[in-house]
Amino acid sequence: IPVNREMIAELTSPPHVPTPVGKRLAKKLIVKMEIKEQEGEMVNGVRYIYWTFGGTVPGSFIRTRVGDEVEFHLQNHPDNKLPHNIDLHAVNGPGGGAESSFVAPGHEKVFSFKTLNPGLYVYHCATAPVGMHIGNGMYGLILVEPEGGLPPVDKEYYIMQGDFYTKGAYGDRGLQPFDMQKALDENPDYVVFNGHVGAMTGNNAITAKVGETVRLFVGNGGPNLVSSFHIIGEIFDRVHIEGGDRINDIVQTTLIPAGGAAIVEFKVDVPGTFILVDHSIFRAFNKGALAQLKVEGEEDKKIYSGEIEDGIYLPEGGGVQSMPAVKGVAEVDIPARSLEEQMEFGKSTYMQTCFACHQSEGQGIPNAFPPLAKSDYLNADVDRAIGIVLHGLSGEITVNGKKYNSVMTAQTLNDDEIANVLTYVYHSWGNSKKVVTPAMVKEVRD
Ligand code: HEM
Ligand code: CU
Repeated sequence: IPVNREMIAELTSPPHVPTPVGKRLAKKLIVKMEIKEQEGEMVNGVRYIYWTFGGTVPGSFIRTRVGDEVEFHLQNHPDNKLPHNIDLHAVNGPGGGAESSFVAPGHEKVFSFKTLNPGLYVYHCATAPVGMHIGNGMYGLILVEPEGGLPPVDKEYYIMQGDFYTKGAYGDRGLQPFDMQKALDENPDYVVFNGHVGAMTGNNAITAKVGETVRLFVGNGGPNLVSSFHIIGEIFDRVHIEGGDRINDIVQTTLIPAGGAAIVEFKVDVPGTFILVDHSIFRAFNKGALAQLKVEGEEDKKIYSGEIEDGIYLPEGGGVQSMPAVKGVAEVDIPARSLEEQMEFGKSTYMQTCFACHQSEGQGIPNAFPPLAKSDYLNADVDRAIGIVLHGLSGEITVNGKKYNSVMTAQTLNDDEIANVLTYVYHSWGNSKKVVTPAMVKEVRD
C-alpha cells in the first residue's frame, strides 16, 4: 500500500480513544507527544508528582493502522527536571525507539518507524532508573489496527492499571514522594486504574446503554504487578489475548502482564453499575484498583431478576452475622484517658476495620458504601450509629440524598473500641464533633 498522504495523529486522554481508522489507507502519521512532570491527586488529600506522556496517566492514546509510517516527535517540556525517552512495544528496532528518543528538558527528538504488526501495545519511558520513570506514571497504549480496522462497536474506552509506591501509607496526606524500597519490594500503597483512586468512579464512571457493545483497551503499566482484570457482573464475549491476534471467547478474568495489554469486548445485557477490578481483590477494595461502568436501559428480569425475596435464615446455632475478630483490634484494652487518646486509638481501629469500605477519608464508594464524611445519617443520631457498629445494618437508607441498600455486618469490637472509633469519626471530615463514651456504648449494647 503506498503511503500517499500525511496526517497529524489525534491523541486522546484516558478513558477516551481516537476515531477508528476504518478503511483508510496507510499514511505518514505525525505524532506529537509532550512529556510533562506535574503534580496531581492520588486520592483525597494525597498529592503526587506524576511524570506523564501528554499530561495524563496513562499517557495519550495513539491510534494507527498497520503499514503507517509514524513520525514521532517527543517533546520534553522546558519546566521538567529530567531527561526521558520512549520505548513503544509496537516498534521493531533498538529499544523500541528508546535509543533514538532520549530527550533533555526543553528539547524535541524526532524518529520514525513503520507499524508492521496489528495489536495493542504498551509504550513507556525507558530512562534509568526505568522502574522509577514507569512507577511515576510514564506509560500508555498505542493501537495498531489491522487493514480495514477493527469491527465497529458502540463504545470504546481506554483503561490502564498501574502500581504506585509512596513514602506514607495509603491515604497519608500531603505531597508523597516515590518510595524506592517499597518499589523494590513490589509492595505498592496504591494500585489504580488511570492514574489515581476513583479516576473512573462516580461522575467519572464510563457508560453504556443496554444492548450496546463495548470494547475496552486495557493496559498494564506495572511497574511490578500483573493484573487479573475482571468486571463484576459481566462476562467478556471476546478477548484479544495479550493484545495480539488470538481471540479467546467467553472469559471471566483475563491476565494482563506488566508491560502488556488486552482488548476485551462484551455486550451489556442489563442496566446497573458494573465494577471493573484487578481480581487480586485487596488491590481493588483497599488500594484503588476499582472502576465503574454504568449501564442504563430496560431491565430484563429473565437475565437478572434482582432481589426476589429477603427471607429469614437462622439455622440452629446461627445468629447475628459478624465479622471474624481481627487479632490486635479486639485486643486493645487500655482505655483512652483523653480526647486525644480516643482520636489516636479510634483512628487506628478505623484504619484497620472501617476504612476498607468507608475509605480513608470517610468518603465511601459511590453506590456501594455510604460516606461517613459529613454524613447527615451519622450526625442525626449517636445511639443509632453505635447500634450500627454493634449490630450491623441492612435495608435501604438515604445518606446525603443518595440511597444505599446493602449490608454492613456487625463489627467485633469492644465498648472502648467502638467509643473511640466513633469519636474519631465524629471528630473527622466535617462531622458534628460528638464524644462517644464506653458507657454510651454499653447502654446501647444492653
Ligand atoms: C453504613 C459506620 C465498618 C459497610 C454505616 C453507617 C455508619 C457506619 C455510621 C450509617 C450510614 C452513614 O452514616 O453513612 C461504620 C463504622 C465502621 C464500619 C464506624 C467500623 C467500625 C464497615 C465495614 C463495611 C461497612 C467494614 C463493609 C464490609 C457499610 C454499608 C453500610 C454502612 C454497606 C450501608 C448499609 C445499608 O445500606 O443499609 N456504617 N461502618 N461498614 N456501612 Fe459501615
Ligand atoms: Cu521518563
